[in-house]
Amino acid sequence: MTDASQTIHRYDEIGSTQDEARRLLEEGRATKGHVVIAKRQTAGRGRFGRLWVSPKGGFYATFILPKLTHPSIRVGLAFRDALRRLGISTQLKWPNDLLIGEKKLGGILVEEACGLHLAGVGINLSMPPLPTSISASQCNGTFGAPDLLAETLGFLTQGSAKSVLEAYRSCCATLGRQVRIHRSLSEAPLEGRAVGIDDEGHLLVEMDGDVVPISGGECIHLRSPAIEDR
Ligand code: BTN
Repeated sequence: MTDASQTIHRYDEIGSTQDEARRLLEEGRATKGHVVIAKRQTAGRGRFGRLWVSPKGGFYATFILPKLTHPSIRVGLAFRDALRRLGISTQLKWPNDLLIGEKKLGGILVEEACGLHLAGVGINLSMPPLPTSISASQCNGTFGAPDLLAETLGFLTQGSAKSVLEAYRSCCATLGRQVRIHRSLSEAPLEGRAVGIDDEGHLLVEMDGDVVPISGGECIHLRSPAIEDR
């Protein structure tokens, strides 16, 4: 499944693989199918402009992909499958956080540049950088970044929009959960029950009898009232 012509730009240390991928694209030194990977990032960034703490020992890569539907869902599914082949079972929190239990193992940031998608993936392999994180090594994962890269190359662009959404619906851990959604800093958060994923990949949240499609934002899984009562 691996495309032998795939070019991998490797760095020991870099600011952000996202920025480097964008720079290489703009300079004509990278194109669709290339990957930028670093052992450590000094200015890694996550969704909502947050810092992505990126010490040595983690997986930090940006995949330059053609523009396809549901890019972050595709990449989330491909990494979930790759991690499973390497012995680690994860769940996907909408839209694309990789979780083990309620803790975050990894995240995905999709940006656009030069008419392509930059899919940045960060996975905690050897140590969890935050108390809310978990690492693969804490779950007996003994693989390194090269193993994970080898398991994902060639898998990120597979499948029709329909099959990708079907696969996502069957494994998205958010479905059925009580959730709080922070859509933006200026809007009050919404709370309700996640009841589906529509054909656009939006999360359908039931609130006061209405079902509202949510296109983006941060999703927090709330504990169910039954558990909170215990
Ligand atoms: C998230 O907020 O969950 C997304 C995190 C994405 C982090 C990765 S690490 C590789 C790539 N380079 C970056 O600066 N960010 C992404």
